[in-house]
Amino acid sequence: MRLERVTPKNYEAALKLSVREDQKDLVASVEHSLAEAYVYGEHAWPRLVYDGDRLVGFLMAFVDLPWKDPDDTDRRSGLWRLNIAGKEQGRGYGTFAVEAACAELRARGTIDFYVTYVPRDGGPAPFYRGLGFVPTGEVADGETVAVRRL
Ligand SMILES: CC(C)(COP(=O)(O)OP(=O)(O)OC[C@H]1O[C@@H](n2cnc3c(N)ncnc32)[C@H](O)[C@@H]1OP(=O)(O)O)[C@@H](O)C(=O)NCCC(=O)NCCS
Repeated sequence: MRLERVTPKNYEAALKLSVREDQKDLVASVEHSLAEAYVYGEHAWPRLVYDGDRLVGFLMAFVDLPWKDPDDTDRRSGLWRLNIAGKEQGRGYGTFAVEAACAELRARGTIDFYVTYVPRDGGPAPFYRGLGFVPTGEVADGETVAVRRL
């Protein structure tokens, strides 16, 4: 497994990546995330997840992002998006992606690595719990905020 940058050669394949139909409320599309990556510039770290030559997922980390609005002095880092292709789930790619994002941000000096997720049955809460994320008690745009200390 490895991460790759989004490039002129792979971005069209990336745009076709899709989670299961019943999971589409859980995460924004790759298209939406790449638009945000453009707008947020240095605060966004988008990467594709490959298994050999097979594209299996997309992740985007956020780096020192003003948390609530552009003037917020509370700046945080963590995982913004994680989309593992529907038919590729359950094979360890999500775990690999989270660990890779943690390693990148740890190397940049991040101590607290945040994630937010939709708190519904069938959502990713158990996945993040298994990776050591603990809810902070905050809710952001209806999503549970959780943190893992790096
Ligand atoms: C959540 C998601 C990223 C997990 O990726 P994945 O590649 O399937 O996860 P892994 O194969 O690494 O699974 C690791 C563990 O988490 C568990 N797990 C994964 N998704 C789960 C879920 N939705 N509910 C319960 N357990 C889950 C796996 O069973 C596995 O458990 P094990 O270690 O006991 O075998 C993926 O299912 C996905 O893209 N879901 C839709 C979009 C989404 O919710 N993204 C997160 C937005 S914040």
